[in-house]
Amino acid sequence: MNRQNFLKTLGLGAVSSVVGSSLLTGCNTHDMSAMNMTPGMENMGPSVTEIPFSTPLRFPETITGTSQLTAKSVSDAILPGKNARVLGYRGGMLGPTIRVQNGSDVSLRFTNNLDEESNIHWHGLLVPAEMDGHPTQLVQAGGAFTYTFRLNQAANMAWYHPHPHEKTGKQANLGLAGMIIVETPAERALNLPSGSYELPMVIQDKRLDGNGAPTYNPSIDDVMIGYMGETIIVNGVAGAVQTVSTRMYRLRVVNGSNGRIYNLALSNNAPFWIIGSDGGLLTAPEQVTALLLSPGERADLLVDFGKVAVGTDVFLKSNSFTGATSQGGQAFNILKFTVNKAETDPFQMPATLGTVLPLSTASATKTRLFDIGISMEGMNGMAMRGMHTIGGKTYLSSRIDESVKLGDTEIWEFDNSKGDEPHPMHLHGTFFQVLNRVGGRNALNATEKGWKDTVLVMPGERVRIIAQFTKPGTFVFHCHNLEHEDDGMMLNFRVS
Ligand code: C2O
Ligand code: CU
Ligand code: CU
Repeated sequence: MNRQNFLKTLGLGAVSSVVGSSLLTGCNTHDMSAMNMTPGMENMGPSVTEIPFSTPLRFPETITGTSQLTAKSVSDAILPGKNARVLGYRGGMLGPTIRVQNGSDVSLRFTNNLDEESNIHWHGLLVPAEMDGHPTQLVQAGGAFTYTFRLNQAANMAWYHPHPHEKTGKQANLGLAGMIIVETPAERALNLPSGSYELPMVIQDKRLDGNGAPTYNPSIDDVMIGYMGETIIVNGVAGAVQTVSTRMYRLRVVNGSNGRIYNLALSNNAPFWIIGSDGGLLTAPEQVTALLLSPGERADLLVDFGKVAVGTDVFLKSNSFTGATSQGGQAFNILKFTVNKAETDPFQMPATLGTVLPLSTASATKTRLFDIGISMEGMNGMAMRGMHTIGGKTYLSSRIDESVKLGDTEIWEFDNSKGDEPHPMHLHGTFFQVLNRVGGRNALNATEKGWKDTVLVMPGERVRIIAQFTKPGTFVFHCHNLEHEDDGMMLNFRVS
């Protein structure tokens, strides 16, 4: 059911209200009951406003796996020349990029200098449950905690962000997120573009006030569709430009937005290659001309500027797309590449990349079905919070919703056939493979041929995944639209 029909059913007409919270202004309510009645149309969120692409893209500093991270309020410029209060883990907005070798011991000291609780979840790292940043593992304001674990996984791009229930959307939106790159000898042997030819990027959208400061005040409409902003930023920079040479580049992209999905493409319509997904490299490069990337998902891309004339601009853009009523109608540019130097390219496209041994459905001991489309049951008639449910339930930290036997392989199905909002579904504690998608797009995309931890389930779709659960303990799975997650679209599962 969509928002309008939902409200009609309640006899409320259309609703638009501004409530919510801002850590930066100190107002900290999460009250969804205040409503202004205004006749309205289907909410699509703000359209994107482009600013001139003239600020050099910057890259967060790179740190090792034994470092310090401090969540705090800092000053940084999202818009050129406009310093504003944001949140970050180091000097500016966002956090440093953590580059770690698989097999190494990671020890990251987290200090919380916010005025409310926070924690860190390592999204895309397989860590013990007690180090995962579960919503109950909170670090109080002024407190600290050292996350320690030894990595044992494939090379991939992961990321990190806070996970306190009902505050994740706000803290992430105001600037708390960072990238993680896990390296292995096998991946290095492929000689993929590295150094200045490897460009890690976190793509986000922000709602900026007149001073260029991000604001977070979700209305009921925003909770329905996700908190989208009119300003697209890459690594904290709006209107970013990156100069490149005539050769192959590796773009490592995380969609770090609260609710916005991007349909990544190049303005010259050139094909590009997908070489990796959330959990690591694909078995072989996949050539595409566009890629839908939802919040939480990562894409490891190769982009060839070798045939672009020096002096030419090429934009990384988001093409319009169909399938979601709340977004996709608009195409916009994300970042400008200016090709400014001719260079001979020694790069050879590898024929094979990584290993993705298919998990066999015959080995699955259980199939679990989760209805993730909004239905009136479970909402208790007038409830305005908790509109986003998994199997009719909203998050309760003390309740174990699913019990999984340690070591078992299971099939989970997310059914959004009754819903009309997209839901990027994310599991902690394991990677998974996507088995199939029925309804909607009726197909898997190229990144879904690899290991995933987040999968987009569009309205009308039923998506089946398969995973083996090898980490004991209590983890969450949830929608990675952070407003949906904070609204309760999250459950616990225990592996034992
Ligand atoms: Cu990136 Cu539980 O989230
Ligand atoms: Cu995660
Ligand atoms: Cu959702």
